[in-house]
Amino acid sequence: MKAVGVFPKKRAVDLITHAPPQIHGPKQVKICTIEVGVCGTDREICSFAYGTPPKGSDYLVLGHEALGEVIEVGPETRRFKVGDLVVPSVRRPCDHATCAPCRVDRQDFCSTGDFTERGIKMTHGYMTEFFVEEEKFLTPVPQELRDVAVLVEPLTVAEKALEQVWKVQDRLPWGNNGRDKTAVVLGAGPVGILGAMALLVRGFRTLVYSRSPAPNPKSELVNSLGAKYVSSQAVPLEKFALESGPIDVVYEAVGVASVSFELLKLLGLNGVFVFTGIPPQKPAIPIEADSLMRDIVLKNQVLVGTVNADAGAFAAAIHDLGVFKQRWPDALRAVISERFPMDAYRELLVGKNTGIKNVISIA
Ligand code: BGC
Ligand code: ZN
Repeated sequence: MKAVGVFPKKRAVDLITHAPPQIHGPKQVKICTIEVGVCGTDREICSFAYGTPPKGSDYLVLGHEALGEVIEVGPETRRFKVGDLVVPSVRRPCDHATCAPCRVDRQDFCSTGDFTERGIKMTHGYMTEFFVEEEKFLTPVPQELRDVAVLVEPLTVAEKALEQVWKVQDRLPWGNNGRDKTAVVLGAGPVGILGAMALLVRGFRTLVYSRSPAPNPKSELVNSLGAKYVSSQAVPLEKFALESGPIDVVYEAVGVASVSFELLKLLGLNGVFVFTGIPPQKPAIPIEADSLMRDIVLKNQVLVGTVNADAGAFAAAIHDLGVFKQRWPDALRAVISERFPMDAYRELLVGKNTGIKNVISIA
């Protein structure tokens, strides 16, 4: 079958022929890939800064944001039947008996670092025609979400981030909603826009701070949601502060340290700053560490990083996607900028980064 393979040693990205997978376990499911999203992580893997092939393979099949249809099930599979739509998760547990998180299906908190990730770290991904997976790593997708379900995985980033926010804010008599609270989303990529939607449905007044001058397709999309897009090029931080007021939650989705630590200065009393971006290595930058530390203490602030997502976040993403589709049908569809055939892999992965979420259609 056809697949997009990354060869780190050769520094090559190619369309390859990859052996079709087979069901080997009673609870495994064979899936025909419908479509796969392309994200910054994929592009970074294709610049050979990140990503590791499975042991014994000189290539890694790329792709970790997939929607597929079940075409075969193992004899003890209970949750799925042929024809069901599914979204697979990304991370697989390490095999250390002592790793408490992995032993309770919370490999998103793996404590050994020996986890694998499909399409990223030591396990092939989904940019291919078929894949096989244990049923517990799959989330069912209602048919009515077929056109947008490829967005589930990037939305799980926001779902896990919000779960962290609620856990942290359990320390306050605040309750599980964003009413009368201000959230700022840093970055207007797919993870930022989906995060803004998740914050809006929870009642937060939501501002999106992103580089490109407005108007542009992303600013228009963001404003159509009822959030407010502010360009960091047009509005410097001091001016943005007047507009935002003290911020209760920052949802960082840009992976740039300089602007993140600048924005941290605007975090308010009892605020939470969630980092989700993974910046590439760059030269050191000065930050106002004393005043930041002073605020972290005197304002009871929490800085929390979050990576990957568990099955609960996948289920929450499916639920929220249904809510988003009711509330913003056109805007949600517009997050997917364009669908391409697999042959377009090269321009999508190593060409200029265009649009919001580009998707490769496979079946
Ligand atoms: C994926 C995560 C993964 C992370 C680090 C992200 O793009 O969405 O599932 O854990 O990369 O590899
Ligand atoms: Zn991704």
